[in-house]
Order: sequence, then C-alpha cells, then structure tokens
Amino acid sequence: KRLLLVNGPNLNLLGTREPGVYGQKTLADIEHEVETTLKENGWEFDAFQSNHEGDLIDAIHESRHESTGIIFNPGAYTHTSIALRDAIASIDVPVIEVHISNVHKRESFRHTSLISPVTWGQIVGMGTIGYTLAAQAFIDHFREENE
Ligand code: DQA
Repeated sequence: KRLLLVNGPNLNLLGTREPGVYGQKTLADIEHEVETTLKENGWEFDAFQSNHEGDLIDAIHESRHESTGIIFNPGAYTHTSIALRDAIASIDVPVIEVHISNVHKRESFRHTSLISPVTWGQIVGMGTIGYTLAAQAFIDHFREENE
C-alpha cells in the first residue's frame, strides 16, 4: 500500500507562515511524522508540494495507478479550484482533505470547499496532527478491508 501526501500553495512555508494559525512545525516535520506512522504499518510514502494548480493536478493524475490513498491539503485552492475537484473526481483513489486550521471559524470565503464533495472525508481544525490522523484513518480502513 502506498500513500501520497499532497500540499498546495503556501504550505511550503509552514513553521514560519502565520504560526498562530498553522503552528510551529515545518512541512518537512509533518512529512516525517506521516512517513513514520505509515512505515510502522508497512505502507510506502510519497510527498509532494506545489504552489501551482496545474502541478497539483498532474501529481493527482500520476498517482492514480500507484497510490492507495491521498492526503490532500489544497490550501486556498480548496475554495476556488473546480479543476482540482475534477482531478479528484477523475481518479478512483480515495482522498482525505486536511485543513490545519478550523476554516469554519475563519473568514466566510474559507467556509466553502469545492473539494469536499469528491473526498472520502475531511479532518479540519486539529492542527498539524490532522495529517497523521488522516494517515491512521487510511491504515485502519485498508487493514479492515483485508481481514
Ligand atoms: C488551509 C486553510 C485555507 O483556507 C488556507 O488558504 C490555507 C491553509 C489550512 O490548512 O488550514 O492555505 O488549507
């Protein structure tokens, strides 16, 4: 089994970007945590971050034959990108959408996700541990399926 962790725009600056909202951990810290959790459970791991919508779409397409699941924080594209939503709808790989902050408590333009309707589930507002929780959800789900 193989998991792809995808982070969208501005998430490369985690750790220094609005730490009061997004926490102190860097993206490298988060990727390492998720990787550790997955490897302990026999999963393979890939990570990708881009600030460019088309590159995120390409990464999602390219994972369609390789990945068992995708953890995706689309950043601000969450609220704007029909193209990313269509990319997810175009593949059979289940996606968990993660937001570090509680978008529902923030500006009204963050209350709508164009992505959510085509995902398996969402983890919102739990901070950066949300990525690891998403990895655990995949591990649990695919363990049960194989029993
Ligand atoms: C975010 C929430 C988005 O509204 C914002 O544009 C981000 C990060 C989060 O993880 O809380 O870039 O996806």
